[in-house]
Amino acid sequence: MRLEGKTAVITGAASGIGRAMARKFAAEGANIVVVDMDEGRLGKVVAELECEMICGDITDEAVIAKMFDREKVDILCNNAGILDALTPLHLADDALYERVMHVNVAGPFRAMRAVLPKMVEAGSGTILNTCSAAALTGGRAGAVYTASKHALLGFTRSTAWFYGGQGVRCNAIAPGAIETKMHFRQQPNMEGFAAYQKHFSTMPRQGKAGEVAALAAFLVSDDASYVNGEIISVDGGWNSF
Ligand SMILES: NC(=O)c1ccc[n+]([C@@H]2O[C@H](COP(=O)([O-])OP(=O)(O)OC[C@H]3O[C@@H](n4cnc5c(N)ncnc54)[C@H](O)[C@@H]3O)[C@@H](O)[C@H]2O)c1
Repeated sequence: MRLEGKTAVITGAASGIGRAMARKFAAEGANIVVVDMDEGRLGKVVAELECEMICGDITDEAVIAKMFDREKVDILCNNAGILDALTPLHLADDALYERVMHVNVAGPFRAMRAVLPKMVEAGSGTILNTCSAAALTGGRAGAVYTASKHALLGFTRSTAWFYGGQGVRCNAIAPGAIETKMHFRQQPNMEGFAAYQKHFSTMPRQGKAGEVAALAAFLVSDDASYVNGEIISVDGGWNSF
């Protein structure tokens, strides 16, 4: 088991990719702390995995303090995120901008700021940020989501650069279209959706959350001990063409 004895904090773990990471990391021997604002779904994950839960908003400093109020944190997965209904820029209002940037950028920024001193003191740790195919290209989501995931990639690379020499690795994953609740939470903007569909994946199916979790488990494990500052796609080839 690759994560035996490791403590992993995973945000957005009540659903989709985060829940799949929690399952996979637990199967690899990690002690899991699952974080999400959806109490009902989070409770089900806790019942299944018998792990610790923190219910709350990942942008809230009090929630972040709870996440790292423990002897050691070996792994942080900044995975919680929200979509922007594929809204083109001229239709994106301030409320959409603020909400998406807050959850997708400010949340992970604050979590990394809080955990890094702990990891540096321990001389080890690994952070994995769930970016998106939209972190690498302009045509995979709406304007604000695309900008938010580009920003998260910037934080990933900067963290890898500054802290790699102190034993902390930081990488990102770029899922393509994955079958999760995210896509069904809100009605997409139809103009954005039409543009998005034109360039759909080279594989004739959506990905599964477990396929993303398999990559995540590799990246946070010692198998990836020389991988730092990377973003790796798990998108059925979508971003390659
Ligand atoms: N599903 C995809 O196709 C896809 C593609 C690329 C990237 N992603 C990214 O993967 C990550 C996970 O998405 P998913 O598809 O599993 O979505 P999901 O909606 O199934 O799960 C996201 C979880 O995050 C939680 N969450 C959202 N905002 C939160 C907040 N402020 N505080 C605490 N919890 C919060 C939600 O309650 C939910 O349980 C996101 O960062 C998303 O941007 C998803």
